[in-house]
Amino acid sequence: MNTRKRILSGIQPSGTIHIGNYFGAIENWVRLTREYDCFFTIVDLHAITVAYEPALLPKRVFEAALDNMAAGLDPERCTIFVQSHVPEHTELCWLLNCVTPLGELGRMTQFKEKSERERENVTAGLLNYPILQAADILIYKADAVPVGEDQAQHLEFTREVARRFNGRFGDYFPEPATLIGRGARVMGIDGASKMSKSLGNHIGVVEDPDAIWEKLRPAKTDEARKRRSDPGTPDLCNIFSYHKLVTPEGEIQEVVAGCTGATIGCIDCKKIFFKNLMKVLDPIRERRQALEKDPERVREALQEGARKARTIARETLDGAKKLMGLLS
Ligand code: TRP
Ligand code: SF4
Repeated sequence: MNTRKRILSGIQPSGTIHIGNYFGAIENWVRLTREYDCFFTIVDLHAITVAYEPALLPKRVFEAALDNMAAGLDPERCTIFVQSHVPEHTELCWLLNCVTPLGELGRMTQFKEKSERERENVTAGLLNYPILQAADILIYKADAVPVGEDQAQHLEFTREVARRFNGRFGDYFPEPATLIGRGARVMGIDGASKMSKSLGNHIGVVEDPDAIWEKLRPAKTDEARKRRSDPGTPDLCNIFSYHKLVTPEGEIQEVVAGCTGATIGCIDCKKIFFKNLMKVLDPIRERRQALEKDPERVREALQEGARKARTIARETLDGAKKLMGLLS
């Protein structure tokens, strides 16, 4: 009997991952797999709610699986699967559609932002996106959902869906808690906005080390440090915010002393960061290369994940249908 609390999170198949994804979410998920019964689903059905290229989608989904597995979501320690491989999600989504007032959907921040961007292509799927997300979570009766700040509203919505269902048909779905991880908000290499692939200010997790260094070398630091002899303020420097992700405490102290006392140059400081970053990324890159050579193993792991997920999903769905009065 598995008595561990259960969590679920969704992974957007948005191409190869960057260190913002890793330090902002995945690293925390890997930690959680030691403590919780974890479910991670690659949300391909959410990905098709906006304009996309069908021919490229399989690759995006597979890469998301490769990257996340390489980054530490070990199929032996958690259940990782593709959302569309568990059709119960969409079936529960329909049931939940029928307890959700229309008005609430149009008010969701993410919907407003995305419909602004999509313009001619605002589909019912985009509007109903949060209901599918609620189904993803409720179908496993998840106790908690580890997500970033930006998903807080969707989580609140999920709890409302559960309350509404329970109020109408009887107590059935637990209200999932939001687990906002220590997840760092990682800035882009430009230091101007949050790291994001679409802004092109990212450092890839499995990017070639030389290419990473070529991005770091010219990257902006504290503007006060025009020369090596100018003292700087680490807290005003984006590179220092990166150090905090990977550099051990002792070395952090050395960086602070060297920067404020103008005894190290920014290039040396970046080299220290690079060295420490590679300690994290080298094993991930190596695992990723090994998985790439054995795609069949990844495919099998995803199928096995879907099989495990379906057993639970089926049971939850059947119970919900019964409560709603659907003839069995
Ligand atoms: N909407 C989430 C995002 O944009 C992805 C997602 C889909 C999700 N289903 C989920 C997150 C279930 C947590 C739980 O990041
Ligand atoms: Fe930033 Fe390091 Fe240069 Fe200080 S020494 S400004 S922390 S890169």
